[in-house]
Amino acid sequence: MELFSLKGKNALVTGSAQGLGNTVARGMLEAGANVILSDVSEKALEKAAGELEKEGFRVPFYVFDISNEEQVNGAVAKMEQEVGPVDILVNNAGIHRRNLLIDMPVEDWRKVIDVNLTGAFIVGKAVAKGMIARKSGKIINISSINAQMVRPNIGNYCAAKGGIVTLTKSMATEWGKYNIQANAIGPGYFLTDLTRPLSEDPEFDAWVKSEVPLCRWGDPKDLVGLAVFLASKGSDYISGQTIYVDGGWQACL
Ligand SMILES: NC(=O)c1ccc[n+]([C@@H]2O[C@H](COP(=O)([O-])OP(=O)(O)OC[C@H]3O[C@@H](n4cnc5c(N)ncnc54)[C@H](O)[C@@H]3O)[C@@H](O)[C@H]2O)c1
Repeated sequence: MELFSLKGKNALVTGSAQGLGNTVARGMLEAGANVILSDVSEKALEKAAGELEKEGFRVPFYVFDISNEEQVNGAVAKMEQEVGPVDILVNNAGIHRRNLLIDMPVEDWRKVIDVNLTGAFIVGKAVAKGMIARKSGKIINISSINAQMVRPNIGNYCAAKGGIVTLTKSMATEWGKYNIQANAIGPGYFLTDLTRPLSEDPEFDAWVKSEVPLCRWGDPKDLVGLAVFLASKGSDYISGQTIYVDGGWQACL
């Protein structure tokens, strides 16, 4: 359907060498977008682009650290010259440094805020300049269920993901007049490398399956429908929202 097609649109997905970002990038490719992969890990990015090439997709990729403004600005300028305007941005890259607040070194607090929150601001700002000039753009920030429901050991991460919810509202508020829609997706617990320490712990695994009304972990493919929708014309009057994809977890006590 035309309303949900991403045909002809350029979509930049950060942290797309693996995990949720890679699956969302693949979903956007299938919806017709020209996807631009990016990640801090050059090796992983080359592997991801190589796998897509074997499947018949030639995908440009750019290596940069989302928390380094100089690298981001350089890469965004280069991709706009080489590929074209970025119509869709998915601010996906994120990390964990797990520890109880009382034991957490301030460097680990700062690192997680810097990548997970400030990184989305830096890439958002770099890409929004072109979107503002063209009066058109879609920004999708990846938050987390942990913006609403927290657990011990991840206070830095929860604060960053809560910040993504309000950063998304600020982007929607300041850039709405330029026809930019900014929304966030809050995944529940999904099976990726980031959550491997949890999914490989039998107790945690059983806990997730018993708490989630749908009785399972999220499959990265479960995010694709919403990501494509928020990048498409179908969501042109939706902005500033965070939509949770959590198997119903937040609906129940
Ligand atoms: N997996 C989950 O259950 C879950 C739940 C809620 C939210 N999230 C969020 O979804 C996003 C993706 O998570 P994932 O599970 O796919 O993680 P992942 O670790 O599998 O992938 C993250 C990717 O981001 C890249 N990256 C890390 N730091 C970067 C930086 N500074 N600059 C550029 N790239 C960087 C990594 O190299 C990696 O390829 C993250 O923001 C995460 O917080 C994940």
